[in-house]
Parts: sequence; structure tokens; C-alpha cells
Amino acid sequence: MTHDDDARVSNPSANQTFGEVVAARMSRRGFLGGGLAAAALSAGGVGQLLKAVPASARAKGGSRLGFEGIPVSAADTVVVPKGYTARVLIAWGDPVSNGPAFKPDASNTAAEQARQWGMHNDGLAYFPLDGSESGLLAQNNEYTDDVLLFPDGVTDWNQEKTGKSLNAHGVSIVEITRKGGKGQRGGEWRVVRPSRYARRITGRTPIKIGGPAAGDDRMKTTEDPEGTRVLGTLNNCAMGYTPWGTYLACEENFNGYFRKTGPATDLERRYGINAAGFGYLWHTTDPRFQVDVEPNEPNRFGWVVEIDPFKPRSTPVKRTALGRFKHEGARVQETKRGQIVVYMGDDEQFEYIYRYVSNLPWRTARRRGIDPLDDGTLYAARFNADGSGEWLPLTPDNPALAAWSPSDILINARGAADAAGATKMDRPEWIDTFPDSLTAIATLTNNTRRGTGTNPPTDAPNPRAANAFGHVIRWRYRHDWTEPAFTWDIFALAGDPANPAHGSTIVGDKYGSPDGIYVAPSGRLWIQTDVSGSTINSGSYAGFGNNQMLCADPETRETRRFLVGPNVCEVTGVVVTPDERTMFVGIQHPGEAPTGGNDPADPKRFSAWPDGPTGGRPRSACLVITRDDGGPIGGSQRGRQPHGN
Ligand code: FEO
Ligand code: CA
Ligand code: CA
Repeated sequence: MTHDDDARVSNPSANQTFGEVVAARMSRRGFLGGGLAAAALSAGGVGQLLKAVPASARAKGGSRLGFEGIPVSAADTVVVPKGYTARVLIAWGDPVSNGPAFKPDASNTAAEQARQWGMHNDGLAYFPLDGSESGLLAQNNEYTDDVLLFPDGVTDWNQEKTGKSLNAHGVSIVEITRKGGKGQRGGEWRVVRPSRYARRITGRTPIKIGGPAAGDDRMKTTEDPEGTRVLGTLNNCAMGYTPWGTYLACEENFNGYFRKTGPATDLERRYGINAAGFGYLWHTTDPRFQVDVEPNEPNRFGWVVEIDPFKPRSTPVKRTALGRFKHEGARVQETKRGQIVVYMGDDEQFEYIYRYVSNLPWRTARRRGIDPLDDGTLYAARFNADGSGEWLPLTPDNPALAAWSPSDILINARGAADAAGATKMDRPEWIDTFPDSLTAIATLTNNTRRGTGTNPPTDAPNPRAANAFGHVIRWRYRHDWTEPAFTWDIFALAGDPANPAHGSTIVGDKYGSPDGIYVAPSGRLWIQTDVSGSTINSGSYAGFGNNQMLCADPETRETRRFLVGPNVCEVTGVVVTPDERTMFVGIQHPGEAPTGGNDPADPKRFSAWPDGPTGGRPRSACLVITRDDGGPIGGSQRGRQPHGN
């Protein structure tokens, strides 16, 4: 079972396609000459971008990357550069506090799973308790492989199985420390057990519905006639965090859990609700996943969920002002006035990039008892061919949406963005920002249907037909993040730069299907890949090895491979501690069946990571990565740079 029904990849090497690629690149290059030069003059160009990186983080006359890039790998293990150590901090089924231990045959019950780290971890964030020595780690548990979740797989499906699958979804929060017994610092990271902060939020945890769409008729169900309270959060992919210390978990492919056998409404069709779903069997024991019975339940998913990790008994809230779509992440950037801007991708072929801008400075809003995520304006992005772009407000004041109510817009944000004329992108995934240079950067993972058949043609921001490798785009403002317009360019077209047929513009190590993207405090740019299991190291991806994480210099665009994951995993979720000397990285779905499903009789068929031959089955896990000399992750080796970095 896979969470993603849109990741089909076809061979891009046909002559005609190659011709299109070249043509698109040439026109793009012509545009770059004028567009980027103009941007450089107006916004300070590369000089501005450099400001994102403290001078101390740059090696004198050399690269900002201080490690030796590693080769591709197709081994069932995690590989990192010389001088680094990657360990498993916590894996699926491990207790988040003093709960039950993981049973390698997957025989833990639903109730036990609710006290254990969820399955298939994704986006994560670190909330310091004591700087870079101890803190709370929150990580999404995006989806489950229900064949590996039970000793006998999905046979004889029953209510207990639905319960365990729901409890393996959601968010896991653990307390972690590297302090020793007597206040010693700098030790080995471990999970604190027991911890008063440890928490599981599952597919059944009560969650409040907040913001303008709360209480709308379309949000009401049999068990919630007020439309203000929903059970659970599902398919939390990437994430965000706020300056006031909360975690944002983003609901992505929520549609796959629901079944609708009768004719689909326009709204259901736009969000992919159908009879087949993704193969989950929850609907057989829980009627809220039968859309024919409970038609509004899907409207209560596809939101951004705010969680306070420091208050383990607090009720999470779905923030409807941020719109409903297949949310990838929600990156928060503070503006000069103290408002917040939230950048969000909708990960499906030909979907949009969104931003939300709070009406008030966040401190003012909170002083007045208003959540800054409840009171603001949602926009969708238009990328023009001349390198300019604009944010299209999704409000009834927009003439294209004059007949829409605020709830109409938020519940059907995709339809609103269609009407407003946003630009259809090649699967928007993560977005992050370079705060000092007013630049945002986003991954567009791939889109094999671009420019094929009756699908939308290539355009300047999505310049490759049958885009198997994806690309990375960035945009920039003149004075502040709230501006309605921006200039944009493409940071890299992915693929193998040594293979002309790929048309890649990567400076350095090859990669494809970029997904996670993260700007560390030093300005080093981290890129994680999610090549679908059916394509890993084969077809157009032959020679690319397993999914991986790379580090790029945002100025020179030099890119080096830093980590390669085990077999059939996705590398997703990355954050560093404030001192940048510890990095946490998620390894998701090792051993997923490349096609079809897994076999409960042979759970280690595709991977035995991380437990190896003595373990019962592969497990998603969060890694902790440190440098053997204690230096900053990705920076220069001590001794070679006097100030380190
Ligand atoms: Fe769950 Fe868009 O990746
Ligand atoms: Ca993702
Ligand atoms: Ca992905």
C-alpha cells in the first residue's frame, strides 16, 4: 500500500520530449537574462541571498559545504559521510514514555500502539527545553502499511485493526536529551522515559475545529452536529512551527481513507474522494469513513493542525483559515511588522502553492486572544512567464470569487484557486525561507503528466514535459514578505547533470524527486528525495540508488550528497538543534513493496532496516546525526577552518 496515487513515472527520454526540454530551457535561459538581472538590481540579487548566511559560516574562498559528498548507495543501511555518525533515536512501536515495548511480530494491540511511536514518520520539529541539550521532538506519522502493522496483515480485518491503524497515524511527541546523569552536557541523545511531555495524537484524538469554517453546515456530522470537533488527524506529511512555540501538522492525502460508492459531487471529485480509496479497510468497521453514510466527514480533513507540545493535555486545533487541500507543509515566516506568513504546497499534479498572511502582528493577536492562524488572508500563487509573480487573494473581494462565501473558499480552496487563476505546478512539496534575503524556496517533486496528452503544457515555472525528476523553484520580495508580487527563478532542474537527456541544471551530485527542503540557521540548504518505490534505482532513475539527502550552497548552488537511506525508504523530515551540531532526520517506509503490497509471511522481503536479521520487520525511524568532532552538521571540519562553522 502506498500513500501516494500520483507518483507514476514514465521514461522521459523520447526525442520529442528531449526537444521540448531543450526548447523550454532555452526560452527559460533567455528569460533569466532579463528577469534575474532586473531582480538582482532591484533586490540586491545574490548579495541579498548571501545575507542569509552569516559570514562565519562560509569557508574562506571555498565551499560552504565542509564534508566529502558520498556516492549513491543501494544498500539496506543508512550511509553518511566520513566523520559523521547516524543512529536510530526512536522507531515505530517504541514507547514514547514508559509505555509498552515494541513486539517485533507486530502483535502490539491498538491500545498499546496509542502509547508508542507511530508508523511512517515524516516532517518533524525540535522545541528546545534547554537549548541544544534537551528538547521536545514532534514528528508526524503520515500513514501506515497495514500489511506490516499486524502479524497476519490485513486478513480478517476487524474493529481492533482499524483502531490500531488509526492509532499508528497522527503525531508523536517525545522528550529527548543529551545530558548525562549529573548535568553533564554533550552526551549521546536519548528519549526521556517517563516524560510528562510525551504524547501521541492519533486518528482518534479529539481535535477542535477553529477559524472561519468552524460550524459551517458542511463541517457537521452525526457525532458532531455543531461542526466544531473532529476525531483525529490523518496523513500528516510535512509540518511547520510558529514563533509562539506550537507545532503545525499538515494533512495531505486524507482522501485515500474514505470510500464513496455513489456518484461523487464536484467537491468530492476535486479532492479525489472515490470508491477505491488507497486500499485502507477502515470503512468496513467505522462508518465515518463511508462517505455515502457520513458525507461531511471528509470535509473535516485536509487542514493544518496546531498542537502545543509544551501542554500535553491541550486540545489540538484544525486552523481552517489556512484552507483545505492536500497540505504538504506550513512554513511560518515573520514579517517586518510582526505578522506571520505561512507558505504551503498542495501536493498533487497540477496543484498550487499557497500563502496565508495574518491580519495582525502575531503578538498583538495573541494579546487580544486571537490565534494568528484564525485571522488572515489566504492567497494562491501565479508565476508569470517573465519571471514576475503575484499572490491572488482567495477572498470574496476578489471579483473571480464574488459569489463565494469565506467558508466556500476555505473548504474548497482548490476550486477557489482554480477560479482565481493560480498557476498549476508540478506537485508542490516543502517550502522554506532564507529570512534575510526575503527569498522562499520550494520543491516541485515531479509531474509525469505535464505536457502529455490533454494535460496542461509546459510553462516557464514548470518547463519540462513528462517531468520525472522534478525541480526546485524560489521567489523573492523587494522589501517584505507581505508584498503582493515577487520575482522568481528556478534553483535547479533535477536529474543527472552528466546525462544530457535529463536536462538537469544541478551543480554537483545528481538527485530526483526533491521533497523535503530545509534552510538551516547557517544558510546551508538541505534537500531530501522521495523517488517512488516503483521507480527507485530503475527506469529513468537507474543509477540513482536509494532515496537520499543532499546539502546545497544557496549561493553557488553546489550540491553534495550527505546521506543515503536503506532500501525502499523515503528520506523525509529534517531539523537541526539551534547550535546546528545535532540533526534529526526521518527515514520513512523502509521495505515498502515497490509494487503491489507487502507479504505478512515475508515482512523483511524488501528491507530489514533498522533491526537487521534478528528484527521482525522494517520500521520507520527518526535518526540522530552528530559529527564525531562535535562540529556543525555539514560545515567545515575542525582544524581546516580556524573558526569552524
Ligand atoms: Fe507526503 Fe507530498 O509527500
Ligand atoms: Ca513529502
Ligand atoms: Ca513526496
